[in-house]
Amino acid sequence: MSSPSEAELIHRFKGIPFTIRSSPELLKSLDTFVAREDDVLLVSYPKSGTHWLAGVITKLYNTHITLTSPIEFGDISKLEELNKLSSKRIIPTHLNYNMLPPNFKNKKCKMIYIIRNPKDTAVSMYHYYRENPNLPTVDTWTAFFDLFLQGDVVCGSWFDHFLSWEEHANDKNILFLFYEDMKKDLSKIVKEMSLFLGLTVSEKDIEDICKKSSFSEMKSDTEKENSDPSHTVCALTSNRKLIFRKGTVGDWKNHFTPKQNRRFEEIFNEKMKLSEM
Ligand code: A3P
Repeated sequence: MSSPSEAELIHRFKGIPFTIRSSPELLKSLDTFVAREDDVLLVSYPKSGTHWLAGVITKLYNTHITLTSPIEFGDISKLEELNKLSSKRIIPTHLNYNMLPPNFKNKKCKMIYIIRNPKDTAVSMYHYYRENPNLPTVDTWTAFFDLFLQGDVVCGSWFDHFLSWEEHANDKNILFLFYEDMKKDLSKIVKEMSLFLGLTVSEKDIEDICKKSSFSEMKSDTEKENSDPSHTVCALTSNRKLIFRKGTVGDWKNHFTPKQNRRFEEIFNEKMKLSEM
């Protein structure tokens, strides 16, 4: 049997490619979503460490919370499903700032945006495209590299996504975190997160959370199915086993040719010239 064509897997909404797992009706209805003041959003461009962040956050609370599937994942019944939850909601999303339901902004809900070196994000996404049946087939790294730079991948251009959020870098209700900082000193970032979320967490608990959130622990939890294997915080798959690949910084060096690196840097410098990060 041949694999499904791109047209069978992808549709565009407001010019951005989404998989058919995000129905156009749901995407259209997002503007009507009723947020709650205590909702927390986990925001990322795909492959930036969303599951890692979610793993840490869920361990920080000792009250009952629900980590939902991404707000843009599903069909029109999704908003009703979220409405019915009685516990505090931790809601992941890959939406850019402009597509975010306005009620989250009006109610100043807390949002955490995780960023990763886009070169590593591109490599991680390439492997995800290769393994994930919900995404179109890509034959080579070279072909994917071009698609990534053109923004012709799910969730659109990395640059547009990041820049839409960076405009709000000074909003008090948004915390920006870097994947690379989490790798360097996770406990420091966990403290920063708990402060931002208004949670009191002991040193001992932080140490414990860091241990349980290491790449090897999270990967083996998934393999042992200690975590629900059909629950992901990525709208592009429900298969957690596709998430934990290498978990390193700098894997791009094993993929980029010197020429690709120069081209990436040129485009990066041009697109990010007004960025402060
Ligand atoms: P790699 O493909 O480079 O290994 P997301 O959760 O946004 O889909 O991002 C997935 C990326 O985060 C994958 O990157 C994955 O391995 C990495 N990741 C997941 N959990 C991690 C952890 N606990 N520590 C470090 N990296 C992690």
